[in-house]
Amino acid sequence: MSQEQWTAVDRYITDHLVAPDALLEAALESSAQAGLPAINVAPNQGKLLMLLAQIHGARRILEVGTLGGYSTLWLARALPPGGRIITLEAVPKHAEVARENFARAGLSDVVEVRVGPALETLPQLAKEGQAPFDLTFIDADKVNTAEYFAWALKLSRQGSVILTDNVVRKGGIIDAASTDANVQGMRRFYEAVAAEPRVSATAVQTVGSKGHDGFSLALVTGGPA
Ligand code: SAH
Ligand code: DHB
Ligand code: MG
Repeated sequence: MSQEQWTAVDRYITDHLVAPDALLEAALESSAQAGLPAINVAPNQGKLLMLLAQIHGARRILEVGTLGGYSTLWLARALPPGGRIITLEAVPKHAEVARENFARAGLSDVVEVRVGPALETLPQLAKEGQAPFDLTFIDADKVNTAEYFAWALKLSRQGSVILTDNVVRKGGIIDAASTDANVQGMRRFYEAVAAEPRVSATAVQTVGSKGHDGFSLALVTGGPA
């Protein structure tokens, strides 16, 4: 199958199962207008994030990599009253666009955007005693994904869920000699998860409007180290 077909099938799925939503569409439009790259999750993936968070009953969600806040908005849909999301973003312009999108959705009090490299904001969250998060979605730079996973685990409790995007990279992950830093970052992520006794994890490869990639899901089965 070709990219064209994957995109057409995603459109079919989305037309049937993902109701049009003005706020989500406005978030993508304002992101595009501001020149942000279109590397947000696809609508059917966003709905999967929402459903997983709902199935899990997540009240406190952490996201690493906000962009324009599209995935954040999907996750926010899953929250019960009083639920909260903290989302981490390195690029001030991205954070600014995301904040506008959260304000338009009436979610400024539900979503907190923290600006800075996640390797600085994650330790800060730990220092503040923000843990535990019920669910973490890791979707920032791919090079540091293993480190983000380690922090997500620190900020979790037994029963927390850690989702990670882009864990297949067009199949690049099977190439040990890859010179792509993103691929090597993801390979380090797999090594770290494989060596971590406190999680039970899997990964699923996907094709769709965003090409060939995948996500992983880890359940924290063990207590704090
Ligand atoms: N989750 C978003 C997409 C995120 S794209 C969605 O699906 O809608 C990845 C984001 O991670 C980009 O906005 C990028 O600026 C941000 N990012 C890159 N390096 C980062 C870092 N070191 N710390 C925090 N965010 C980072
Ligand atoms: C990239 C980042 C993402 O989060 C994504 O879903 C797709 C691509 C990237 O940096 O190339
Ligand atoms: Mg992604």
